[in-house]
Amino acid sequence: MEKTFLMVKPDGVQRNLIGEITSRFEKKGYKLAGAKLMVISNSLAEEHYGEHKDKPFFNELVEFITSGPVFAMVWEGESVIAGARQMMGATKPSDAAPGTIRGDFGVTVGKNVIHGSDSADSAKRELELFFNSDEILNYQKDNLNWVY
Ligand code: TYD
Ligand code: MG
Repeated sequence: MEKTFLMVKPDGVQRNLIGEITSRFEKKGYKLAGAKLMVISNSLAEEHYGEHKDKPFFNELVEFITSGPVFAMVWEGESVIAGARQMMGATKPSDAAPGTIRGDFGVTVGKNVIHGSDSADSAKRELELFFNSDEILNYQKDNLNWVY
């Protein structure tokens, strides 16, 4: 089954949105396969956001993402990579539709509450960056028989 990397950013943790956000993905029918509260090091942040290293917002982005705990998660499900991106909404909260996480909870692009992998390649890369293989659990959830 497809897996993706999602992360409640430091602003979401500080604003008590961990429960709200995880609840949305649970209710959707995706399966939580791993999770941890962690502080991202500078080197991990620079590697994670490497594709943006030449952008004007890069330094601010690294500073922000390392500024406090994040809640890193592995979610599993059919087409979960694209589905989770839909549920997150557009990068800029002002463009994100109501009903999406960024549309409902974000105001500025710099503090947009959640990260999610944007492709199969980035999901694989980001899951390997953030999780050891023994931190990703394979377990049965019988209620999913009513999702699929
Ligand atoms: P990006 O990968 O383009 O967006 P997404 O998180 O939707 O995949 O950008 C990564 C993060 O960089 C984004 O979530 C917030 C930050 N960012 C800015 O601070 N300013 C900007 O103009 C952009 C495009 C992104
Ligand atoms: Mg991105």
